[in-house]
Amino acid sequence: MLPRCAFSVCHVFVLVLCLSSAEDFDWTKNGHSSFHYGTFPAGFSWGAGSSAYQTEGAWDKDGKGLSIWDVFSHKKGKIQRNDTGDSSCEGYHKIKDDVSLMKELKLNHYRFSISWPRLIPTGIKSDHINEKGIQYYDELINHLLESKITPVVTLYHWDLPQVLQEKYGGWQNISMVNHFNEFASLCFERFGNRVKYWMTFNNPWSVAVEGYETGEHAPGLRLKGTGAYRAAHHIIKAHAKVWHTYDTQWRGKQKGLVGISLSGDWGEPVDISNQKDIEAAERYVQFFLGWFATPIFHGDYPQVMKDFVGRKSVQQGHGTSRLPSFSPQEKSYIKGTCDFLGIGHFTTRYITQKNHPSARSGGSYFTDRDLAELVDPRWPDPGSEWLYSVPWGFRRLLNFVKSQYGNPMIYVTENGVSEKMLCTELCDDWRIQYFKDYINEMLKAIKDGVNVKGYTAWSLLDKFEWDEGYSERFGLYYVDFRNKNKPRYPKASVQFYKRVISSNGFPNQREVENWRRKAVETCSSSNQLLAAEEQRSTAANILRLIHDPLTSHMEMVTEIVVPTVCTLSILLSAVFLMFLLRRRN
Ligand code: NOJ
Repeated sequence: MLPRCAFSVCHVFVLVLCLSSAEDFDWTKNGHSSFHYGTFPAGFSWGAGSSAYQTEGAWDKDGKGLSIWDVFSHKKGKIQRNDTGDSSCEGYHKIKDDVSLMKELKLNHYRFSISWPRLIPTGIKSDHINEKGIQYYDELINHLLESKITPVVTLYHWDLPQVLQEKYGGWQNISMVNHFNEFASLCFERFGNRVKYWMTFNNPWSVAVEGYETGEHAPGLRLKGTGAYRAAHHIIKAHAKVWHTYDTQWRGKQKGLVGISLSGDWGEPVDISNQKDIEAAERYVQFFLGWFATPIFHGDYPQVMKDFVGRKSVQQGHGTSRLPSFSPQEKSYIKGTCDFLGIGHFTTRYITQKNHPSARSGGSYFTDRDLAELVDPRWPDPGSEWLYSVPWGFRRLLNFVKSQYGNPMIYVTENGVSEKMLCTELCDDWRIQYFKDYINEMLKAIKDGVNVKGYTAWSLLDKFEWDEGYSERFGLYYVDFRNKNKPRYPKASVQFYKRVISSNGFPNQREVENWRRKAVETCSSSNQLLAAEEQRSTAANILRLIHDPLTSHMEMVTEIVVPTVCTLSILLSAVFLMFLLRRRN
């Protein structure tokens, strides 16, 4: 997720298109071709994803230690409506249910992450290993394999053990490299006989920038201009170490692959006839994806990052660059530590050159880039504030990866769209549109020669969306968070995605339109049923409230009196119902 502050400059503009050719990535070639009917290569892997803190719940069960997200979300004012992941989707108790949803979708793979403090409560392996945590992941992996679903495992999806944060300062400290390596080794040892796809980190950009620069995410530090670069530096070293550990100690026996999942928005020059805008757009992508991908594929940070951060650091009176550097040994150790590249992609920005004078700004990751981000107001943005649907940006990003990093094997590890819905809504027509168009752009990229092997829809379930709490829903399945059992209901996009999977693509226009029509038809009746069910449970809550002492329900009242039209109408009908019941008695 991207910080809101970065997008305050978004405005209207006009785009001029022209075509030309160049040897490397061609910034000026941006033809938006029409929908491409066709199928994916045989063996293409279709999946859906999740992460531990966002779905498991059971935050303090069975010997799990605290993570930085447990602590952060319990602090007032950090998360929308002070939501926490304490129980989330209760995924910890619902392995069977969730695997049957995956079977229903006919997924080839499922991407999930392992909670480090669930396995090693303090984060330090020599302290204690929590066998109950191991059992949980054993069970999940076994159920997946029995259902012929390949587990794709992320080792770090942001939930650092709190002890490591308190004792060492988390990713600001180089000692994380060894602690993370020990945790990874434990996972290879216990699960590696069955897990063949590993990712060290998920979206380290967010960990670094939002965790240590803007403080919007755990651990909530605001170390402007240095915190993000330092965290990223240690993360890259930790990634490389774990890759080498697997390569030298486990690969021979286990024959798996180790990659990393990087996120990258696409940056398109506002004016492609303006060299300054082209350079600014390239800087945007290099500071985002290239920051991590370039060391991993080429051994060092992108030259443009070294130049910009270095120059500004000197102007600001620093003796050395705020961007740390790798020694020659480190460069060769880090280079080539990626068996496949995971790409998480959601959206695009237009980019133009904008100078941020170094002396005044004081230096930050954002001002170091000397650019401004813009959006086209016609782009659909159904959910998260930062997420505009711009399918063609996906094809551009994938082609960029091909040309910059030697056409690596790619798995798309996250792609999807959210909604902000207060009333129940299973008819997610806009999500169908998003998936249809983004998946189609990925198909075009494959035709361009990009080596994409699999796609992971984000996400299987609605879940805890970090600082946005439960207010943004990314799921294919709707989760009723108000109900203690957290029941799941399929949205229309489940029906659509299922068809894409079973046809391995888009056979022809007539069929694809039919899928969509049917998906929307079936969802409206389940939508009504669910809305009625939710109305009933809210009415039951209100009745309970009236019979019990008022003070014990203060919190519940505040929740119920959310000023939405739907909630008001539920309240009114409940009062009416009560009135009728009382008259009958
Ligand atoms: C990327 C993160 O990895 C994921 O956890 C999150 O749900 C999505 N962005 C959407 O914000």
